[in-house]
Amino acid sequence: MGFVRCPNNHQVGILLWMLPDQEVISAWRDSAPFWEKHREIIRQMFAPVTQALVEDGLIGSGHAVLDIATGPGEPALTIAALVGAEGKVFGIDPAPEMVEAARRAADHLGFQNAKFDVASADRLPFPAATFDAVVSRFGVMFFPAPVDAVREMLRVLKPGRKLALAVWHFAERNPFHYTLSRVIERYVDSPPPAPDAPDAFRFAIPGKLRDVLAGAGAMVPCERLLQFTIQAPISVEDFWTLRCEMSEKLREKVAMLSREQLTEVKRQALEVLRGYSTDRGMSFPAEVLIVSGTKNRPT
Ligand SMILES: C[S@@+](CC[C@H](N)C(=O)[O-])C[C@H]1O[C@@H](n2cnc3c(N)ncnc32)[C@H](O)[C@@H]1O
Repeated sequence: MGFVRCPNNHQVGILLWMLPDQEVISAWRDSAPFWEKHREIIRQMFAPVTQALVEDGLIGSGHAVLDIATGPGEPALTIAALVGAEGKVFGIDPAPEMVEAARRAADHLGFQNAKFDVASADRLPFPAATFDAVVSRFGVMFFPAPVDAVREMLRVLKPGRKLALAVWHFAERNPFHYTLSRVIERYVDSPPPAPDAPDAFRFAIPGKLRDVLAGAGAMVPCERLLQFTIQAPISVEDFWTLRCEMSEKLREKVAMLSREQLTEVKRQALEVLRGYSTDRGMSFPAEVLIVSGTKNRPT
């Protein structure tokens, strides 16, 4: 049992399992200004993942689509353009700062058909059978109870329609992640996360998320490996800044370095990153799993 102190100064017992989710959300709240700052580059880098979700979610013109863990609005805003004025997109995220960033982006882009709200994956504020598709890009690995979350996705889907989720394949297949972390780990201890703890690579093992979909009752759970190129039209130096700012783990570790260590880590990191620099900016081979399933039709 853990304890929190309430404003009226009573101590309230709360179950320990509730704490990690609050920690996860709090970390994402801190990350929100950086994800908003780099929103456009992030959109470009992960556009092939969005495209795969659109394909596997069978999303088309006029559809109503839910994007869970939308962050500062992707893939929701790309999908809003695709479904057109007859369609609509809802994006939800438990971090209010992410939702505010998504709303600002929608206003800036002039999208009338995209709405954003604060909500968590395990309690979706929508009636049953509302959506033609449900998607989530790099979100499910942070959910406290993924099976419950997928059950919620199935509840809000119309019968016969699909959900599609994107998660990272193994870290060692993704230099976008490991180039910087390997250099920093020479200076800062990085114990592996506890099994099944919220982490970018929680569903990297093929079949693991597909089994979650099957356990939640999705029909025809499928998985495919998406191999693509992350293209970021920025310099090596700007990529260093982008990665250090986007990742809460990297921000924490960088803050632990002395000034001399930071200078040395940055020197080594830039040297490795130059290997991924092209005349069109940074370019990394990348691997993601796209996992999808269908809501049962009543017989
Ligand atoms: C890696 S970001 C992905 C953002 C966006 N989908 C993208 O691909 O650019 C992960 C997001 O998951 C959200 N998240 C964390 N826990 C969540 C939960 N329980 N339910 C829904 N979203 C959650 C975070 O607030 C964060 O915005």
